[in-house]
Amino acid sequence: MKPLSTLLGSIPPSATIAISDKAKALKAAGRDIISLAGGDPDFDTPAYITQAAFAAIQAGDTHYPPSSGAPAIRKAIAAKLAREYGLTVDPATQVLVSPGAKFLIYAILAALTNPGDEVIIFEPYWVSYEPMALLVGATPVTVPLPAATRFTITPEILEAHITDRTKVLLVNSPNNPTGRVLTPAEAEAIRQAAIAHDLYVMSDEMYEKLIFEGEHINLASLPGMAERTITINGHSKAYAMTGWRLGWAAGPKEVIHLAAKLQSQSVTSAASFTMAAGAAALNEPEDAIEAMRLSYKARRDAMVAALNAIPGVECDPPEGAFYLFVRFPGLSTDSMQIANILLEQADIACTPGVEFGRSGEGHVRFSIATAQSDLERAVERIRKLMSA
Ligand SMILES: Cc1ncc(COP(=O)(O)O)c(C=O)c1O
Repeated sequence: MKPLSTLLGSIPPSATIAISDKAKALKAAGRDIISLAGGDPDFDTPAYITQAAFAAIQAGDTHYPPSSGAPAIRKAIAAKLAREYGLTVDPATQVLVSPGAKFLIYAILAALTNPGDEVIIFEPYWVSYEPMALLVGATPVTVPLPAATRFTITPEILEAHITDRTKVLLVNSPNNPTGRVLTPAEAEAIRQAAIAHDLYVMSDEMYEKLIFEGEHINLASLPGMAERTITINGHSKAYAMTGWRLGWAAGPKEVIHLAAKLQSQSVTSAASFTMAAGAAALNEPEDAIEAMRLSYKARRDAMVAALNAIPGVECDPPEGAFYLFVRFPGLSTDSMQIANILLEQADIACTPGVEFGRSGEGHVRFSIATAQSDLERAVERIRKLMSA
């Protein structure tokens, strides 16, 4: 047989999905595995959102929608950006709705780059950024942020890595996996570098609604940034809608136009009634998602205190998202080894930090979008493991 794609052959499968699958297989084989590896809220989608989907289906909204997104959800996204950040975008030309933010990151990278263009990705990074940059033929440049500074982005770090070929800064706040929320000083450093070097900024704001300390900064709404920033967001995390596959991007119309072309020639569109539910989610008051945020915050507080009380375990409180980035100096500084020990000896599945880039080494990621009872059992198992 003739050889298959070398490009796809060279791309690693998603590490987080691989680990979740391994944990599921062990569970199916009878082991009582507690999985802290995924990124899927344990809440069901709020009822007002599911009801909007039922109503859309019953009203016959089951045909091909406009490829770039139904007008109602595009309007809801533009209204949200205006309401929350004073950012004006034209819903008809500057918003793209897709089946998941993940596809959008791929589509926007494809729209922004030509082969050889460099995309700066800050470590620790969400696992899919680097493979996606490779898939579109761009050159990912991964920039390790030091754990010692709690992964802070500085002007010096930016200047040390920007070259003549740099095209895009890919920023993620609140951050998966560290839970860091961009500070005004970091946002200003990014803004100044982007303007000085004429760069595009992709701002992945998936965890925007899940902040416990600090305030979310929408990079596109900073001075001089609207024309160069593409905001990426979606419904998966804040609205507990991972299975609905709904993400959106807003940015300069030329960029959105190219990404929309890729969408129309590949996946066509998000699902029609999913978008109806997504519009309802954005238009209604946020009580339901606020209740989820408060629950994650309570879990964060309890878990951080419980883990730090165990000798040999260290955990900084994350300011946002729903992950803990935990060190086990009492076990090892090798994150693969820590994850293996936790799986083999404590029946806990988690993600080794090195999967998020070199500067994630020494950490493992625990998801706290996990049932409270499982979190408590996990702490108990870790306590036992560390005292053995
Ligand atoms: C930082 C970040 N961006 C984007 C996504 C993609 O979300 P989705 O494709 O479910 O919209 C995720 C999901 O884990 C994420 O953690």
